[in-house]
Amino acid sequence: MRFFSASIVFAAALQFASATPSIVKRATVNDVANVGYATLNGGTTGGSGGPVTRVSTLDALTTAVAGNNSKIVIIDGTITGDTVVKVGSHTTVLGAAGSALNGVGLRVLNEENVIIRNVKISKVLASAGDAIGVQASSQVWLDHLDLSSDRDHDKDFYDGLADLTHGVTGITVTNCKLYDHWKASLIGHSDNNGAEDTKITVTMANNYWTDLNSRTPSFRFGHGHIYNNVFDANNDGINTRDGAQLLVENNVWTGTDKPLYDTDDGFAVARGNDFGGAENTAPVGTFTAAPYSYSLIPTANVRASVVGTAGQTLSF
Ligand SMILES: *[C@@H]1O[C@H](CO)[C@@H](O)[C@H](O)[C@H]1NC(C)=O
Repeated sequence: MRFFSASIVFAAALQFASATPSIVKRATVNDVANVGYATLNGGTTGGSGGPVTRVSTLDALTTAVAGNNSKIVIIDGTITGDTVVKVGSHTTVLGAAGSALNGVGLRVLNEENVIIRNVKISKVLASAGDAIGVQASSQVWLDHLDLSSDRDHDKDFYDGLADLTHGVTGITVTNCKLYDHWKASLIGHSDNNGAEDTKITVTMANNYWTDLNSRTPSFRFGHGHIYNNVFDANNDGINTRDGAQLLVENNVWTGTDKPLYDTDDGFAVARGNDFGGAENTAPVGTFTAAPYSYSLIPTANVRASVVGTAGQTLSF
């Protein structure tokens, strides 16, 4: 029940403000999730109100984000390595302006209530893990992340940019930039993992996806609300798979001939999208209303609102 009354007030405010875009321009270290599935089940507060630590080495980062005490960790400068750092529950991880993790990913495994914002992560080797990996966890807000690698190697040299698997619930991905990569975002672990992954709930809003090969995202089994994203020059679009129920609204695509398609009976309700002249081929599903209030940017304004705002554009 963390911040229960505050989130009700905020939801009401969102409804009244629904004519204006909900892009966050100011940020504080104590911000809590204000969009999507992360606002449900008591909300996602991360380490809000906890002590603030600034880190600039891999060892300091690894120590600072471990464990379940409420805490806020700010990454300063560039940290280079070849590993994935495990983030504990009730934690907020923030990137200072200009900070970067090179070859260092963040993993949220068997945890709850985590916020990761304004962090730039590049070139995490597949042997280490994903740039961002959220597994078997609940209430996670990923916001204003800059996630990339390159496509100079084969598609398995790097793994995912933002992989959300093993029954994750209450996940919101907003204002992120995902680019220059083969396999962007895997949601739902595998075709055989329905027993765990059917409960998946993910919101993806106001993200910019460009120069990606596939998985933008690949979504299995669960419920996904995907709105106000811009997709440019990716090979594949949104792939709804294995009974997934997606609500896909007011997104904009250029440069793909399959912006929204299914594999093994995935479904989508699609409204207000600009498919860039291509066709949506996903069968119509049953997910017609998200279980929270939200404000849609009109489709014609999405590109101007999202490109340039997504990514590491906050300062802490
Ligand atoms: C932290 O909380 C998570 C989620 O409740 C739990 O799975 C994990 O074991 C806890 N870790 C520690 C170190 O207590």
